[in-house]
Amino acid sequence: MTESQGTGDKMATEHKRGRRNVLAFTGAAALLVLAVNLAISAFNSHKKKTKKNKDLPGSNVCVNLSASEIRRLADRIIANSKSVHDRVASVPLDKVTYKNVVSPLAELEAQQFPLMQSCLFAKLVSTSDDVRKASAEAERRIDGHVLMCSKREDVYRVIKAIAARGEWMNAEAKHYIQSLVRDFERNGLNITVTKREEMHRLRAQIDELSLQYMKNLNDDSTFLLFSEAELAGLPPDFLKGLDKAENSKFKVILRSNYVAAVLELCQVGNTRKMVAVAYGKRCGEVNLAILEDLVKLRHKYARLLGYSNYADYAVDLRMAKTPSKVFEFLEDISVNLTNLANKELNMLKDLKKKEEGDIPFGIEDLLYYAKRVEEQKFDLDFGALKQYFPVNLVLSGVFKIFQDLFGLRFEEIADAKVWHGDVCVFSVFDLISGELLGYFYLDLYTREEKYGNTCVVALQNGALLVDGARQLAVALLISQFEKDVGGHPGLLRFSEVVNLFHEFGHVVQHICNRATFARFSGLRVDPDFVEIPAQVLENLCYEDFALKLISGFHQDITKPIKDETCRSLKIWRHSFSALKLKQEILYCLFDQIIHSADNIDVVELFKHLHPKVMLGLPVLEGTNAASCFPRSVIGYEAACYSRIWSEVFAADIFASKFRGDPSNQYVGMQFRNKVLGPGGAKEPVEVLSDFLGREPSIRAFIESKAEYSV
Ligand SMILES: *[C@@H]1O[C@H](CO)[C@@H](O)[C@H](O)[C@H]1NC(C)=O
Ligand SMILES: *[C@@H]1O[C@H](CO)[C@@H](O)[C@H](O)[C@H]1NC(C)=O
Ligand SMILES: *[C@@H]1O[C@H](CO)[C@@H](O)[C@H](O)[C@H]1NC(C)=O
Ligand SMILES: [Zn+2]
Repeated sequence: MTESQGTGDKMATEHKRGRRNVLAFTGAAALLVLAVNLAISAFNSHKKKTKKNKDLPGSNVCVNLSASEIRRLADRIIANSKSVHDRVASVPLDKVTYKNVVSPLAELEAQQFPLMQSCLFAKLVSTSDDVRKASAEAERRIDGHVLMCSKREDVYRVIKAIAARGEWMNAEAKHYIQSLVRDFERNGLNITVTKREEMHRLRAQIDELSLQYMKNLNDDSTFLLFSEAELAGLPPDFLKGLDKAENSKFKVILRSNYVAAVLELCQVGNTRKMVAVAYGKRCGEVNLAILEDLVKLRHKYARLLGYSNYADYAVDLRMAKTPSKVFEFLEDISVNLTNLANKELNMLKDLKKKEEGDIPFGIEDLLYYAKRVEEQKFDLDFGALKQYFPVNLVLSGVFKIFQDLFGLRFEEIADAKVWHGDVCVFSVFDLISGELLGYFYLDLYTREEKYGNTCVVALQNGALLVDGARQLAVALLISQFEKDVGGHPGLLRFSEVVNLFHEFGHVVQHICNRATFARFSGLRVDPDFVEIPAQVLENLCYEDFALKLISGFHQDITKPIKDETCRSLKIWRHSFSALKLKQEILYCLFDQIIHSADNIDVVELFKHLHPKVMLGLPVLEGTNAASCFPRSVIGYEAACYSRIWSEVFAADIFASKFRGDPSNQYVGMQFRNKVLGPGGAKEPVEVLSDFLGREPSIRAFIESKAEYSV
């Protein structure tokens, strides 16, 4: 069926069926359907029996492969890739041309990616054990092959030869060739063999220690015992879920969900403190020693490659460029938020004094009193709010917002081949030209054995192929919504609604990209930049027009949430955010400092930084960030700042261009053409400056915090 605007969220993969049920509106609801546009009628009109076996024209993504098909496809991918690399490597250095070196590699990258993803994404969504196993095995083999290619000296020499010629086709091709060279060199291909071997040894040690550090945390089974009175404030359901010791005390295991509940809800200050201290001490000495070793090894690794320390190496390829820029950024935000954070802290201190008397306020009190103040201040009942967000209504609203803003048209393909009956697929067209830009799959509902997080997976990247045709972009959004239960529509928590906006922003970002090379297209962009578009679009869902469009009481969807609720949500979003952000900055500074200097006493460092950043609040005795701070160990070392970075610049874009008129299509099209279009093909600062008409700045972010402070 055609559905001209459907629902979409970035979550990706599957929700067709649920949606259809929700969409079977009658009576009053029909009005809203019109108001929200016609997406809904499209869902309704599917025949449940539609055979879903059609391939999508222009998509090389293979879905619902069997285990043996995955194994064969992985063989084919590896054999083909090897032969292309061999052919490129065999070009004599004096005969290298764009056509015999660069084009084959770019074409390979564009065309093998959807095939690789076909093997790999099955691991996340398949209903069959065998298929998931085959997928995981294919991933190991393909990763191994890619790693080997990235170390091929023969290919590096040929590419270096072409780079040395300096005859570029155009700016993007230059950027592509330079990236190829740089990636090889970051793998040590321009240093001596001895040094390169040392690098590989260090890498192996780093990986092993990182795993050990994580394993220690995962294996930690420390618990604390509390009586019922000591856990006052926690809901009965929470207590029911706890094991009991022989003395009939409750066991609180030091896992983040239990710890968070205690810190937010427990009325007993001493309990909060004991839990916070024990949590901050997990794996104490052991992980502290590991972290110190890790940092040393990382510095060594970076120095072999010619960097002065690990942070230099880690930040070099990111939008921030240098650690000193990162420090400046974090400092500026921290300093500029100090007044507001002090105001917030005083509010919390006052309430603590009222409730507990003259006991000094500690960091363990932050979440509890912030929540108390919020309860007093906002009349927000999130359980009741959920009744206003039926999945399908939210989806059709999100579809409408994104289609209108960016001049797109989504159309459901009812008979496309999928891997589960809940999955649905949409084509994306440019509204004006009618050009097909790509497809997205939505796999939205929870299912056993399905990947447990919300995410967007790029299945095929847009690219300009050698024959002049444009390869389409294909995305998959995976989420864990509840499906309709017993005829009642699935309802979304407000946090899920926010996630949906964010993730759907990634889908649109992926599909609207127009980069020439698959390497720079879709979500393959600078990690400091990749979250910015999604964060900008996430802002939309706090705007009145959007909230009205996506909400409707589930028994009468013509009733959206009230104006006061919209206002409260907007203010609630920013409540105590200066204080919470300062806490995050504390950890980011810690991460950046330990990776920028040698011989740092990490315990002393944290003790020193804590009161400095947290307005005089001392570190909890005996705790240290180093022993249980996984973000600085795996994945985000020297890059923890990146999340704040993208939030800040997204706020700049939103405040300067979208606020006041968040559904302005002219602005939306500018954003699509100037920010989403180039994606990774240009320097992020250039991309943002082109859209903003000036350099991005932290000002709007700071001002928005002050504006919404309560
Ligand atoms: C090796 O490559 C790196 C990164 O591209 C570069 O900074 C460095 O100058 C190169 N070293 C040599 C010896 O060519
Ligand atoms: C996926 O493939 C299996 C085996 O070929 C088939 O039985 C199943 O119906 C397919 N699933 C869907 C949703 O088409
Ligand atoms: C933030 O603080 C710094 C001092 O660290 C100051 O130089 C800067 O102008 C401030 N920025 C804004 C946007 O207020
Ligand atoms: Zn994201």
